[in-house]
Amino acid sequence: MSQESNGIEVKGLVREFKNGPRAVDGIDLTVEPGEIYGFLGPNGAGKSTTVHMLTTLLPPTAGSAKVAGLDVATEGSKVRKVIGAALQEAALDPHLTAREHMKLQTSLHGLPKEERLKRGDELIERVGLSEAADRRVGGYSGGMKRRLDLALALVHRPRVLFLDEPTTGLDPQSRASLWTEVTRLSAEDGVTVFLTTQYLEEADQLANRVGIIDAGRIAAEGTPAALKSEIGRPSVEVVPRDPANRARSQEILDQFGTAVPAARDALGIRLNEGIDELVGIVRAFDSANIELASLVLNEPTLDDVFLAKTGRHLEGAGEADSAEMPLPDGETVNA
Ligand SMILES: Nc1ncnc2c1ncn2[C@@H]1O[C@H](COP(=O)(O)OP(=O)(O)O)[C@@H](O)[C@H]1O
Ligand SMILES: [Mg+2]
Repeated sequence: MSQESNGIEVKGLVREFKNGPRAVDGIDLTVEPGEIYGFLGPNGAGKSTTVHMLTTLLPPTAGSAKVAGLDVATEGSKVRKVIGAALQEAALDPHLTAREHMKLQTSLHGLPKEERLKRGDELIERVGLSEAADRRVGGYSGGMKRRLDLALALVHRPRVLFLDEPTTGLDPQSRASLWTEVTRLSAEDGVTVFLTTQYLEEADQLANRVGIIDAGRIAAEGTPAALKSEIGRPSVEVVPRDPANRARSQEILDQFGTAVPAARDALGIRLNEGIDELVGIVRAFDSANIELASLVLNEPTLDDVFLAKTGRHLEGAGEADSAEMPLPDGETVNA
């Protein structure tokens, strides 16, 4: 990768915490310049630890990482000049307004005095906070705070942008407006974006490429389309109108695919072939005189990919761990 490149190259990256887990357990990944890379995984998977290493906040235990061609371990100050970051533990001061935050951030990054106000206002406008610019951040909604975080991270025109769960807890509308801005940064300004998320839909819709991380390791990587087509075949869920027909319904379905977990009352299979089999399924139920309350076709999702690679569903996958996490003083949380 050339010195000019905006990409990210990670090899065998490890982070161990004292008396803690191997939070990042040897990951390899490449992010192409200008790409949006979605780092998808449950709570505790190692997403933030990875971001902290890539943004030079935490030294790696082993392995190497280059950001924009610069080594995070040996060229930290150069790395910090070309990256922007909006991290989970964002430090916004509730007593300051957006414009005041901008004033601080632009001077922190050494922008010439005469440019500071202009750049600040430009970014505030860009993330849609112009009307709230002189209000204290303490009164902002979650979505407004996240948009301000993003604007602050862009002050020095970074070539690589790190966003750690930028939309967690946001309502769908705020989420969508952040997606629009991130897409624009990548498409129009050529900014490379490394974004972590717990949301399947976010990785699917926003990212050019996705790395699925679980327990410190990358379980799968590729474009959302390629990952899903690797799982390949869609699944079908049926609900027999009469629950007494469940067993016979399952027998019929078994001719067309292999059983998969389904919603309550439903029976599910992953199709052996593809959607062409739907006709056969409908006919089979018809000739067996079994009425169906519903028949649903589900295309593979990134959750199916996660399930196939880890044996668990993504949603709620981190909860069992966190419920048993020891507290610093040795007590255990009883969730
Ligand atoms: N400073 C730390 N000391 C000890 N363990 C840590 C520390 N930071 C994170 N961990 C642990 O490392 C694992 C990964 O955490 P993290 O990277 O924050 O996951 P994610 O961001 O995907 O939720 C978790 O088990 C977490 O408890
Ligand atoms: Mg995190």
